[in-house]
Amino acid sequence: MSSSPSMRISPPQEGEAKTNEELYQQFTNLVSSWPCSPALSNYQLYRHDNGWHSSLAPMVGTMVADACFAARPSDIIVATLPKSGTTWIKALLYSTVHRREHPADSCGHPFNIHGPHECIKFLDYQLYTQNRIPDLDELPDPRLFATHVPFVSLPRSVVASGCKIVYVCRDPKDTLISHWNFANKFRVRDGLEPLSVETAADYFCDGVSPFGPYWDHVLGYWRAHSANPEQVLFFRYEEMSRDPAEHVRRLAKFVGCPFSVEEEEVCAVDAIVKLCSFEHMTGLEATKGGKTELTFGVVENSSFFRRGQVGDWENHLSPETARKIDAISEAKFRGSGLSV
Ligand code: A3P
Repeated sequence: MSSSPSMRISPPQEGEAKTNEELYQQFTNLVSSWPCSPALSNYQLYRHDNGWHSSLAPMVGTMVADACFAARPSDIIVATLPKSGTTWIKALLYSTVHRREHPADSCGHPFNIHGPHECIKFLDYQLYTQNRIPDLDELPDPRLFATHVPFVSLPRSVVASGCKIVYVCRDPKDTLISHWNFANKFRVRDGLEPLSVETAADYFCDGVSPFGPYWDHVLGYWRAHSANPEQVLFFRYEEMSRDPAEHVRRLAKFVGCPFSVEEEEVCAVDAIVKLCSFEHMTGLEATKGGKTELTFGVVENSSFFRRGQVGDWENHLSPETARKIDAISEAKFRGSGLSV
């Protein structure tokens, strides 16, 4: 679906000063007028005019970021669908980029105190929220940010700046199961009935999932990667699980800090893989006791870790539902070069 510029609100021009509150309110009014539907989570999902779904606050944050965020060519943006390995790729990217000042095997590594979501913040869930226009100018290069929005809705300055984008895609069935578990936690917290996996799968297949439809999101970044592999890196969670070290090497090379022979000799790659492994991260105090503030509330860092396995969907989805999802993937990805 193409972008419809008429629905975008331009950033304030000179002499047309808007307060932060006015800017946020303007977008809030716009989004509130769009169609919305109940969803798997404990909130409604609005349909963006580019054709994707999100709850109100991150959608408004996306629009404010589009109006105000000035990307630099040296920025690195992590882009993912929720529950597809965001926490993991953030950890890998942060520890790779900052390995000189924070060696992965040092006992004082920042991950002991801060979770990956505090080290690399979301533009839409953490920075452009609560009427804030954050001052990001003072941050040293390379600045690391994250987003869940589809490629078509990235802040315009991100694409124009030519900065690096790191995308991770995960099997739709595992993404669904991970999200179903995550969302039900919040439903129960808010006194709502947990949803059955069949209901969750129906929403997912209809495209009513955060930043969904899943398939459009993946295809958007896949096509951007195919057109410009120097700007968009495309990883798959399943392949990262099979060979994390190779992915760390590719990541480092992509962002312009490849591992040297000396670093390979002292097993610096393996140290990063181990630091960011599911087993190590789940044992850290920052995971066990830490919290992250997102637009939808304060979230315990431990909730970003569940099983961390490939193929857990087999324990939850009926063969019929799995076949239905596979059939959609096959139809949507046909001819794109992407396989299920
Ligand atoms: P499961 O629910 O299948 O266990 P996100 O970070 O995008 O929210 O995705 C969360 C999913 O990634 C969860 O999947 C979580 O367990 C898994 N995950 C988190 N950290 C991980 C790590 N270091 N290695 C592998 N998987 C990880």
